[in-house]
Amino acid sequence: MKALVLTGGKGTRLRPLTHTSAKQLVPVANKPVLFYGLEAIRDAGITSVGMVVGDTADEVRAAVGDGSRFGLDVTYIRQQAPLGLAHCVLIARDFLADEPFVMYLGDNFLVGGITDLVEAFERADYDAQILLTRVAEPQFYGVAELGPGGEIVGLQEKPEHPRSDLAIVGVYIFSPAVHEAVRAVTPSARGELEITDAIAWLIGNGSRVHSHLVSGYWKDTGRLQDMLECNRIVLERVEPDIRGTVDGLSEISGRVVVEPGAVVENSVLRGPIVIGANTKILSSYVGPFTSIGSGCLIENAEIEYSIVLDGSSVQGVSRVAHSLIGRNVEVSRANGVANTHQLMVGDHSRIQVRA
Ligand code: G1P
Repeated sequence: MKALVLTGGKGTRLRPLTHTSAKQLVPVANKPVLFYGLEAIRDAGITSVGMVVGDTADEVRAAVGDGSRFGLDVTYIRQQAPLGLAHCVLIARDFLADEPFVMYLGDNFLVGGITDLVEAFERADYDAQILLTRVAEPQFYGVAELGPGGEIVGLQEKPEHPRSDLAIVGVYIFSPAVHEAVRAVTPSARGELEITDAIAWLIGNGSRVHSHLVSGYWKDTGRLQDMLECNRIVLERVEPDIRGTVDGLSEISGRVVVEPGAVVENSVLRGPIVIGANTKILSSYVGPFTSIGSGCLIENAEIEYSIVLDGSSVQGVSRVAHSLIGRNVEVSRANGVANTHQLMVGDHSRIQVRA
């Protein structure tokens, strides 16, 4: 069994962060979303990974390298334009050869790993295995309609009027039968070769496609609220570990990780939270479900339910919440001018201030 991990896509819903970085590299509890998927693949006993990369190829390569750090052997496959998930399978034909493979969308976050799914596929005689989960807004996903016996009777990609609330999760297992299917499909209304259409083609041509309802937590991390929720889920499980320096005036409760070189002075840390290496928390409050990256400064400030990336500072500002702050960002109090907000903000940023 091989794995095909997809890291293309434009990440428009996570702009401006995705102007400078791949959406799959946005961290959850200080670790890129993509790494959770790579670890799940490794844990399922797969070592050979084809990584489909697009415009953000350089960043993905810099982060993942040859994969040896994960116990994986990674081959990079360049997709010249985002022409769809089925197109990724087309261009990976030589790499995949005639082996079955897991296709894993790099921005998908699945708690519980894929080991059971891989084992189930290996025991059975399916041409494809898909995962489904109930969602509130199925129109934003591939949607499956099941018959009375649980068999798939229809599959549609982002239908305007979904016939069920069962979304297709971005983790699929295919036999080599999929290669004929991806050659057969034509571009969808959004101009992409859809994997959903390829799976529908398999069913239409008598292949055995099995669906499995995901019992654990799953998210496509394409939007801010999804990132924050994944962060919450991971932080709820972290093991407390204080390796930085915390002074006697500070108060710590709950699951708190303070990475090496971090300094906490005169502050309140209410877990679950992660404070990255070499970050300073001075006279501040850091509240639940917050991940602060490395080399940050939080001073005379309050922050909770947020993700802050490396090298950023929040100073003199009370209660930042539900926020995703990129790399090397400065958030501070406007000096001297009463009742004004002073902003220098990148393209496609979103700022919500208290009026
Ligand atoms: C893709 C698939 C869709 C699936 C989703 C899961 O959507 O096309 O069927 O439900 O991933 O994350 P996309 O990320 O291309 O919008």
